[in-house]
Order: sequence, then structure tokens, then C-alpha cells
Amino acid sequence: MTTGTFVLVAAAAIISLVAASSIPDSNGELPHNPLEHDSLHGKHFDAGEHNSQYDHESFLGADEAKKFDELTPEESKRRLGLIVDRIDADKNVFITLAELKAWIQYTQRRYIDEDVSRIWRQHNPDNNKTISWDVYRKSIYGFMDTLSKEELEHEEQGISYKSMLARDRRRWAVADRDLDDSLTIEEFTAFLHPEDHPTMRDVVLQETTDDLDKDKDGKISVDEYIGDMYRPSEPDEEEPEWVLSERESFSKHRDLDNDGYLTENEIRQWISPNDFDHAESEAKHLIFEADVDHDEQLTKEEILDKYDVFVGSQVTDFGEALARHDEF
Ligand SMILES: *[C@@H]1O[C@H](CO)[C@@H](O)[C@H](O)[C@H]1NC(C)=O
Repeated sequence: MTTGTFVLVAAAAIISLVAASSIPDSNGELPHNPLEHDSLHGKHFDAGEHNSQYDHESFLGADEAKKFDELTPEESKRRLGLIVDRIDADKNVFITLAELKAWIQYTQRRYIDEDVSRIWRQHNPDNNKTISWDVYRKSIYGFMDTLSKEELEHEEQGISYKSMLARDRRRWAVADRDLDDSLTIEEFTAFLHPEDHPTMRDVVLQETTDDLDKDKDGKISVDEYIGDMYRPSEPDEEEPEWVLSERESFSKHRDLDNDGYLTENEIRQWISPNDFDHAESEAKHLIFEADVDHDEQLTKEEILDKYDVFVGSQVTDFGEALARHDEF
């Protein structure tokens, strides 16, 4: 697989928007949407538009990437310089592939750990050893008890409260290795971040199929595949270049038997190819982007020159600087 050509599938973002706009929660916070946590999901492409947000999240962690979006270019660069010093574990001035890969693994681990701890504390204020499904269900979906059948089944983009509950229930049951219907923090981690857990592969496969297979024929057509990442804003809008290249990627790299559809094995191969190492692939890509002198390692100067690849913001409206105390 070639490096450096990642596109994040937009399903999670679209679905969390639906959830955000429509699902109230007792304390004004969004309920946990299982899909929201899949942003570094194993969906990647060997062709297509490169997604810089994906790079920033890989390099900084999803939470930090958001904070950097609010910084001025100068402040982003200053902080990036400090990060580079930390990545350079042997302090020899060069950032190697191994150092960059270790850093990416570290930020991803840190993001997942912090995310799980936060949600764990929220649902388990007594800090018990486990959370039961019943407690979790009440906490997330308790509001459903007062809704009518119609409200429960009302769909937005194919998703209803009822289907969200069913999906969470199914995922919970798979994460519950010891079958006591309660999750330890390790099991809860697999529940919230199934993408890293081999035991969760089948349920992720099922969820991906459920999301994309709009006509429910059990397989994914090229239009269903594209519809998951791109919707025209006007009916006769011409498809942008990256969408055309995703179409090509579908037939070249995804639809292995060329029957026009992704069936189970092809979907499995797509979302969790056996030999794919996300951190290594992303590290190679970042080196490729910034390695001006082609010595296959990076200096601080090369990284700062390409700061937008690593951390730079897409937005022009810079807000408050948000500091992370242990790093800045
Ligand atoms: C924690 O455990 C206690 C004792 O079993 C129980 O009463 C309490 O409801 C539990 N808390 C949660 C949030 O599950």
C-alpha cells in the first residue's frame, strides 16, 4: 500500500452532526455516539485526496489538533518546535522514521486513554471496577424512556434513536469478553475504540456495512461508497477531482473481483487490511512531505518549513490559545 494518501471517511462526522443537532441529553452534553470515536478508524485509501486534518490528528492526537486549529501560525510553529525536541529521542538533531512512528503511536495512545478515562469517570463516578449495561444505558439513552414509538423510530440519514441503541448494545456485547454484561475499563476501551481491537473486527465490519449499505442488499455499490464521503450541494454539481479518484480507487483497489460491489471479504480487506500499520504509514508520509534534501530523515527546519503539514490550521479566525501544561 502506498503511503500518504489518506482520506477520512466522512460518515462519522456526518452522523455526529445528526446526533448533535437532534439528541438532547440531561446535562446538556452530547450522548456518546459510538461512531464519533472512530476518527482514526482503519478506513484508508491508496488513492485520493490527501486529508491534512487526518495528518494533524495523527501527529497531535485528535484533541490537540483541535486546539492547534485556534492558534496563530507563529504560535503553532513555536509549539511545533517544542514537540520536535521531544520527538528527537536521541537528541541527535535528526527525526528518523522510528522516532516519528513512536511519536504517532504515543499521541494516539494518549488520545484514546484520555478519552476513555473521561467517559469512564462520567458514567462511573463511584469508580467501580465495572460499568453495567443497565447503568450505561440509563446514562446515555435514559431520555428515550419518555419518547413515543414514533420519536424513537424517526430516522435522520438512516439513523434513529432506536437504531443507535441497538448498535451500542451489540457493540457492548462483543466488548464484554467475560459475559457479565458489565465492562471493565479495558473492555470499555474496546467498546469506545474498537478500531484497535482484533476481537472487535467483526462488529466494526457489521457497523460499516450498516452505515454504507443504504439499499440494504448486503453489499456496497460504488455510489454507496462515494455517498459516504461526498454529497453534492446541488443536484447537478460536477464531482470534484478527488471524488473521481475515489471512484477509480473503488474499482482498482477495493472491488477486488470487479463485480461492481464490495462484498463482505472486500469490506473486511478495506477496513482492516492484514498488513497495514497506520503509524508507520503515516510517519513515512510525513517524512515524504517534508524531506526536502531526501535523506529520509527530518531536521527541525524541514519540519517547521512544512508546519502546515504537521499542525497548521485551515481556519483563518484564530481564537484563544489553549495550552496543554505538560508540553508548553
Ligand atoms: C457502584 O457500585 C455500588 C455498589 O455495588 C452500586 O450501588 C453503585 O450503583 C455503582 N455505581 C455505578 C455508577 O454503577
